[in-house]
Amino acid sequence: MNSMEMQRFDENRHSSREFIEMCNASIGINYGQIDNSFGSGMIEANKFGEPYGLYSKNFELWVGEKDSQMQGFVSLVKKRGGSSKIKALIVNPSARGLGTGSQLYKFAMDQLGAGGARKVYGTDAFIDYPTIKYDLLKGGFEIEGSLREPYKEGVPEIIIGRMFQRGIPAQTIAPTRKPKSEGLDVKVSEFQEQDLLCIREIVLNMMPDFYGDIDGDFVNRMNLAHQRYVKQGIEYSAKPRIMHVAKVEGQVAGVGLFAPKRGGSAKLSPFLVAPQFQSSGVGSALIEDIESHAKELNIRRLYHHFPSCSIISQLFFTKHGYLPEARIREPYSPGVDEIVASKFLK
Ligand SMILES: CC(C)(COP(=O)(O)OP(=O)(O)OC[C@H]1O[C@@H](n2cnc3c(N)ncnc32)[C@H](O)[C@@H]1OP(=O)(O)O)[C@@H](O)C(=O)NCCC(=O)NCCS
Repeated sequence: MNSMEMQRFDENRHSSREFIEMCNASIGINYGQIDNSFGSGMIEANKFGEPYGLYSKNFELWVGEKDSQMQGFVSLVKKRGGSSKIKALIVNPSARGLGTGSQLYKFAMDQLGAGGARKVYGTDAFIDYPTIKYDLLKGGFEIEGSLREPYKEGVPEIIIGRMFQRGIPAQTIAPTRKPKSEGLDVKVSEFQEQDLLCIREIVLNMMPDFYGDIDGDFVNRMNLAHQRYVKQGIEYSAKPRIMHVAKVEGQVAGVGLFAPKRGGSAKLSPFLVAPQFQSSGVGSALIEDIESHAKELNIRRLYHHFPSCSIISQLFFTKHGYLPEARIREPYSPGVDEIVASKFLK
């Protein structure tokens, strides 16, 4: 067995150019809008953590070396709530078929298990059977669902996950009866900094039961991400996010934030209506506004994830045309599965 040494990526030791080219060559095939910023983004995140992440907390890029040659790498994203994502596991074409990938997987799984991760997950292009086969057999994953063309038109993805620990299944939450009122006068606008305190309260009140590690830092990152959009527009590598706020008589009633991704999708999360304003048309006004803005920005697909136990969310997103694509096992909190649902905007 050719044994490798694992090292954190280090620019003084490894060639950034070689790494970036490996990313472009392997990942660029099934993913749209991959350029040098994809690989260099991983090098940056490995050094500085995930300064722009919302659900992502930390990032590690590990290189497998033999005789000082890069044989391959594996990158791990630590998420809030105790799960991790394998963002990429790539073996240098010259080192394929020698057990390198298995060693990278073994290292990654040992590393995650020892670090207390509850689960690990990843996605694969559905048209890439060799990679799917490899990941299911060598990584010990199970299929959890699919995503409709998230990163490139014409290329569906599957979500694969492996559980290290399971929680107690969350109880189904049925909505309370809808009030008979005619609905409220809702105004939706782009986020302004004066709304931040109210948004903070909504997020910290609603999310922690279903999402781990939701704190003031999460809310600050929502704010900073929107500021990056205001200053730089949609520049994927800067991870901008766009926040809309729904108000009733000047009071903040709901918030939605969407993150444009490479390849034309945008992730809508969080999307929340404060409990005292629910079931009165606030969520509908907010999502309609967000969809029309996303369309203007040329986003072709919006997707959202919500706790599977929330029946009100199932009804709301079904009514608005979001097709459920996956049920992800306990990604953000023990016992709370998430439904991913998406809608094509054009
Ligand atoms: C899901 C949510 C965004 C919807 O926003 P909303 O302002 O309440 O929704 P609207 O009033 O615009 O209602 C639109 C649709 O939502 C669903 N809905 C809303 N309230 C409902 C209720 N009390 N009973 C059944 N369906 C309901 C229905 O599909 C409704 O369509 P209908 O009017 O044809 O029945 C909002 O209720 C929310 O944030 N809920 C919290 C969900 C949650 O707890 N998530 C976990 C914490 S993060």
